[in-house]
Order: sequence, then C-alpha cells, then structure tokens
Amino acid sequence: MMKVLILTGSPHPQGTTALLADEFIIGAKGAGHEVVRFDTAKLDIHPCLGCFHCHNNDGRCVYDDDMKQIFPHLLSADAIVLVTPLYYFGMTAQLKRVIDRYFSVNSILRQTPKQLCLLAACGDKERWAMDALVVHYQTLCRYLHWQEGGMVLAIGAYTRKDAEESNYPLMAKNLGAGLQPF
Ligand SMILES: Cc1cc2nc3c(=O)[nH]c(=O)nc-3n(C[C@H](O)[C@H](O)[C@H](O)COP(=O)(O)O)c2cc1C
Repeated sequence: MMKVLILTGSPHPQGTTALLADEFIIGAKGAGHEVVRFDTAKLDIHPCLGCFHCHNNDGRCVYDDDMKQIFPHLLSADAIVLVTPLYYFGMTAQLKRVIDRYFSVNSILRQTPKQLCLLAACGDKERWAMDALVVHYQTLCRYLHWQEGGMVLAIGAYTRKDAEESNYPLMAKNLGAGLQPF
C-alpha cells in the first residue's frame, strides 16, 4: 500500500483534468493504495513571498492558510500526482503556487524519496505543446531526488468530452493501478 497525494490545479471541478484525476484515483484505490486529493484552485493558498521567514523560523511560513492541510500529506506521501490543464504551456498558477510553497520544507522533501506523476491536458494537437511542462516535471524530479512515476499527456483534449472520447481516461486509470513502491 502506498500513500498517494493528488494535487489538482484546474479551476474546473468537472473539467478535462478532473476526469483524468478521477480515473487515476479509481485505479490507485483499486490497487489498494490510500489516496488523498486536494483541488487546490478551491483552497486559500498564498503564493510564496520569498521572504525567507521559513528559513529562519524552523520552516514556519508567514501565512497561516490551507497549505497547513496539505503539508502533512506532502511529507508522508509515497507518490504525488500533479494534475493540470496546460495554461500557456505550463501548469496553472493555482498549482504552481502550491509547489512554490514546498520551499518551507525543501530540504526535507529532497531527502525523502518519492515518486512524482503528471496528468495533463491541452487543446493543442501537437506533442510539442507539452514539452515545457514535461521538462519542468522532469526537472522537479531531478532536483528533489524523486523518481518519475509516469505521466499521461492528454494532447488534443480541449474539453472533457474530447477526453471522454479518447484513451486518456484509461491511461490515467492504468497509471494509478500500476503504481509500485520502490
Ligand atoms: C487560460 C488558459 C490557457 C490555456 N493555454 C493553453 C495552452 O497553452 N496550450 C493548449 O494547448 N491549451 C491551452 N488551454 C486549453 C486547456 O488546457 C484545455 O481546455 C484543457 O482541457 C482544460 O482542462 P480543465 O477542464 O481540466 O481545466 C488553455 C486554457 C485556458 C483557460
């Protein structure tokens, strides 16, 4: 059994990437994993101020916001799944502000082996549209010393209906079902 943390970044509760997240979760739970999900667009989370208060105060942030719900799961998860629509060739700001808040626990995260997965969707039909996001994902894994757990790139999925008519939901479910501890 693995602890799996899902972080979605879309403002659409029933959108394209919500479908991918739902299917991944069905697969992961079916394989016996414990799943916790945060739809970060709905949470009160401030962007990092870069004030270094956390570095001088045992990791405590100046903000007392919804990140405090996420941190315990972030630290204990065996696998973290980033779920995002492509917004101008990157992840959404809603999700990025969560990642920037890793800063207060950065050294702990770098010393804790984890797997990172990526579920993303975009309207463009060309593979290169996802290139910057994929490199970002790979670079996060490299920097944090985390393993690449796999990704589903729903290219050409401008709407949830596009995704429903594709193999992407099944690919997401299979990725969740196939999660393996180290
Ligand atoms: C602000 C904004 C920026 C977007 N930028 C891109 C983009 O750079 N490339 C692309 O192919 N699609 C882009 N899209 C389309 C979304 O990625 C696509 O509609 C996706 O399926 C939405 O997923 P969701 O319903 O989970 O939010 C953008 C959509 C919005 C609203």
